[in-house]
Amino acid sequence: MVDLLLQLADNPNLEVPIERDGVKAFTLDIIAAGTDTSAVTVEWALSELLRKPKAIAKATEELDRVVGRDRLVTEADIPSLPYLEAIVKETMRIHPVAPLLAPRLSREDTSVDGYDIPAGTRVLVNVWAIGRDPALWGDASEEFVPERFVGSGVDVKGQDFELLPFGSGRRMCPGYTLGLKMVQLTLANLLHAFAWRLPDGVAAEELSMEEKFGLSMPRVVPLEAVIEPKLPAHVYDDGP
Ligand code: HEM
Repeated sequence: MVDLLLQLADNPNLEVPIERDGVKAFTLDIIAAGTDTSAVTVEWALSELLRKPKAIAKATEELDRVVGRDRLVTEADIPSLPYLEAIVKETMRIHPVAPLLAPRLSREDTSVDGYDIPAGTRVLVNVWAIGRDPALWGDASEEFVPERFVGSGVDVKGQDFELLPFGSGRRMCPGYTLGLKMVQLTLANLLHAFAWRLPDGVAAEELSMEEKFGLSMPRVVPLEAVIEPKLPAHVYDDGP
């Protein structure tokens, strides 16, 4: 993709010339912000699900009922999969990929919830802590319970401040619709097409859930799982 955009930048017929360094920085931004984030979220969702066989069973039941066993999941199926959507929200609540969002600087003196914030203050929004706050999520705030989002109006679009995995306001993730769809569709197909279990000898409560703090927040120990195909062979060849 970088090569393609650089070729475009070199095109002498462009009315407004594009600057090569800018193209490269922009492309790398999109690739860095758009790939790891979705992959990390899917890996966390599967890690949580492997510790909750009942949630996998519920998701599988929904997929079998809505999609059937003779094809893969498509984007058009997603609105009919409320439990899958709830799994993704619950994953993003407990494992936000950007735990402190992007740093902000306040432009004017302001007051939030009784705290005076002078102009020029660097503000970090700790969505990791907000997502686990028992005052917002109840006593089981540290537990993975997708059911809390079934029938709930709380969404990830930056309007519900208790759940901000894509941030909010002007610096909110510009790729959030794509990111959300990627995570939902990838996870849906991984759950639909394969039976998942932990390797022999690894108990659910032994699975490490340690997080590595950085630009994104992946697992410290990469997830290891055993998967087996469970759909008719032609489905894997045909595609969605
Ligand atoms: C599950 C997937 C994703 C998650 C959880 C996610 C999350 C975030 C978060 C939390 C921010 C900072 C927002 C803020 O501080 O308010 C951000 C910024 C950004 N995201 Fe995403 N993102 C995802 C996917 C994507 C995709 C697919 C793209 C592009 C194709 C993308 C492009 C960007 C860019 C360019 C920024 C920087 C925006 C700026 O600096 O103003 N992201 N993302």
